[in-house]
Amino acid sequence: PQTRTYNFTISQVTGAPDGVQRSMLVVNGLYPGPTIEANQGDRLVVNVFNQIENATAIHWHGLFQNGTNFFDGTAGITECGIPPGQSLTYNFTFGEFYGTTWYHAHSTQYSDGITGALIVYPTASNPPSIPKYDQDLVVELSDWYHDFSTDLLAQYLSPDGIQGTPGNEPVPDGGTLNGLGQYGAAGSGGTYFNFTLEANKTYRLRLINTGSFTSIRFSIDNHTLTIVEADSLLVEPINVSGVTLAVAQRYSVLFTTNQTSGNYWMRAELATDMFTYTQPGQNTDIRGILKYTSTDALPTASDDPGANGLGDLDTSLLVPAIHVNAPESTVRYSATVSFQNTDQGKFLAFLNSTSWEPLAGTSTLLAVRNSSGFAEEGAGISSVGDQLIVTEDRISVIDFEVDNLDDGDHPFHLHGHRPWIVGAGAGRYTGQPLNSTNPMSRDVILIPAYTYVVLRFVTDNPGVWAFHCHLSWHMAAGLLMQFNSLPSVSSQFDIPQAILSQCGAS
Ligand code: C2O
Repeated sequence: PQTRTYNFTISQVTGAPDGVQRSMLVVNGLYPGPTIEANQGDRLVVNVFNQIENATAIHWHGLFQNGTNFFDGTAGITECGIPPGQSLTYNFTFGEFYGTTWYHAHSTQYSDGITGALIVYPTASNPPSIPKYDQDLVVELSDWYHDFSTDLLAQYLSPDGIQGTPGNEPVPDGGTLNGLGQYGAAGSGGTYFNFTLEANKTYRLRLINTGSFTSIRFSIDNHTLTIVEADSLLVEPINVSGVTLAVAQRYSVLFTTNQTSGNYWMRAELATDMFTYTQPGQNTDIRGILKYTSTDALPTASDDPGANGLGDLDTSLLVPAIHVNAPESTVRYSATVSFQNTDQGKFLAFLNSTSWEPLAGTSTLLAVRNSSGFAEEGAGISSVGDQLIVTEDRISVIDFEVDNLDDGDHPFHLHGHRPWIVGAGAGRYTGQPLNSTNPMSRDVILIPAYTYVVLRFVTDNPGVWAFHCHLSWHMAAGLLMQFNSLPSVSSQFDIPQAILSQCGAS
């Protein structure tokens, strides 16, 4: 194993990813930020210098942080945030983890541009079910706003809402593919990201939805895509014409440059059915170019819908390539998802009756260390103030039932654990049979409107871990709860002084 060291400077700059200038937040002046590459088992050291006006923290999405919960980068939960002008060195190992993932600020700051890809290569050879490929490429897809996230968030949380309707999420102006979009009438604004490829080779595209709100459908004109990885997990190959990524989800797709030599569109289409109002001038048809010819001509528009008669990915068909059965559960908890205007004069999101707000002046991890309010509650599910928290001080197998009572779809993400999806269906969970035979597992689970999921996971990773809707507006509205696994394992409180100082603690 090696140590991979990166220096990240977070700053505010003027940029125009889709041709329209705005103020944005970036890592090392780049949007998206630099791609981190490492091998399984490596150590990652990232020196983060905060040069913006507010505190920030960087979360390493989908990693386990086993023994280093304090480096999870969840503002308000595992740290108070790096104050302006200061720095923090994140330092942890990947352990057994490998796959496609990303990093981002753990707040709506990521909507302003603090995101980047994180790729961890396996040190063992790929399982035989994964076809060989010649080259590996990263494609970061995102919706994109022309306004600063704090302004959009204030409108969203206001009791009147956006356009007079509480609950209308901010609708993006457009989107980006590897940091480039095209705003305005087709092709008149922005530029196209492009890859120059060779004919008759097989490429792996690592697709990541680094956006804030909108699901995005990815396809390549005239080319079949073979799905081989979902959220850092290798899956049995499935051929599709396109794949839709909810926010924070990832897929690897293989494709072969086997068409007539030429230029082809990569398409990133925003899911406009999620929008509750019309954003004038909006561009929802984001494109990039695949070239396997020397000409610079734009591809001729043809989208060959359903290449080779294939459809979009049906996520219920995903099967882990390495078969594992889930253990039987030992304990069950449940939560409901809902939204409402509150008597504090704010539109907020609720898990059960709790709408998350970070603790004032401390982190949950420190509060647990100091036993202020949490330890007394003991094991089980409890609401302490604005915190809904499940405490398990033994290695348990939780069945966590989530009932989405809302009319929107929510991509929920669990930190520090890898949940199996053992049940999903329409309506509320009322004891329907569960599947523990090689169930799919992923770290971002889309829970459609008025449906339930049952997630099963093992509380074997000490620390305080967020479970939240990854839509940045919803997390900010309070759609976040926490799991506190094994609070009696004291090593999780060996918190570096730099993190304690953020909260004024020692
Ligand atoms: Cu991708 Cu809680 O984060």
